Amino acid sequence: VIRLRAMERDGVLRFPVIAVNDSDTKHLFDNRYGTGQSTVDGIIRATNVLLAGKVVVVAGYGWCGRGLAMRAHGFGARVIVTEVDPVKAIEAAMDGFAVMPMREAAPLGDVFVTLTGDTKVITPDHVKAMKDGAILANSGHFDVEIDLPGLRAMATEVFEARPSVQGYRLRDGKTVFLLAEGRLVNLAAAEGHPAAVMDMSFANQALAAEHLVTHSKEMIAKVYRLPEDLDREIARLKLATMGLAIDTLTEEQASYLASWREGT
Ligand SMILES: NC(=O)c1ccc[n+]([C@@H]2O[C@H](COP(=O)([O-])OP(=O)(O)OC[C@H]3O[C@@H](n4cnc5c(N)ncnc54)[C@H](O)[C@@H]3O)[C@@H](O)[C@H]2O)c1
Repeated sequence: VIRLRAMERDGVLRFPVIAVNDSDTKHLFDNRYGTGQSTVDGIIRATNVLLAGKVVVVAGYGWCGRGLAMRAHGFGARVIVTEVDPVKAIEAAMDGFAVMPMREAAPLGDVFVTLTGDTKVITPDHVKAMKDGAILANSGHFDVEIDLPGLRAMATEVFEARPSVQGYRLRDGKTVFLLAEGRLVNLAAAEGHPAAVMDMSFANQALAAEHLVTHSKEMIAKVYRLPEDLDREIARLKLATMGLAIDTLTEEQASYLASWREGT
């Protein structure tokens, strides 16, 4: 989505695109609850680490990061959040997590997970400050969030500690463990998100494809959001599959909520 927006900005996008990640029924659920759960799943399957009492450092408090922070906290971990966005940082702090720069979190963490979409979020300088035995994983973007060339350059030996776990022996005698070669740990070391959350993501993709076909004439080469009524429709369908019902606005309520003549 970031790349598509950059292409639109630079005038090189050649066809209309619907960014399904912008749909509420995608990022609020797939990114938060899907990534939250499956990232913990990947870390546990790869390492069998006991999260209770451990310090888990979550880089990025976007939808994926907050999902992971919430789940790691649920396992009894003490969670530190690192951010670059001041608003997200306040949210993390008010959600009850410690907030600090990665430089300060590095010596405190037992497990580090990047979920930022950014590059070189964990650098050799951070790794130098980490504890012996620290676990590094990425659940964000490709394999660039942890500086792997930098990590390799500081290692005297790289060995397969367990499936999906590489030990990096450092010059100072410490070893850090990299999961899934720094690729998305939930996909590489677990099974990705359960179907019960991907259903909404795929519904977004299917309806977006249909919308593109049926509305191609009026769409130009830009990045669109899926129309909100379709996003709501997916939520309604999901609720029905969960056996949940909700209230409906009465006509009086709908007009009250839409009015500036009343309620002021
Ligand atoms: N593992 C998966 O299955 C899965 C699923 C969905 C999305 N993703 C990926 O996860 C990444 C995050 O997705 P999201 O929906 O949470 O995005 P988001 O935009 O909601 O959140 C990203 C957060 O990272 C922060 N950030 C950026 N650079 C940072 C840095 N250097 N240090 C600390 N924080 C930094 C941003 O301020 C932002 O709050 C994306 O790359 C996305 O493609 C992975």
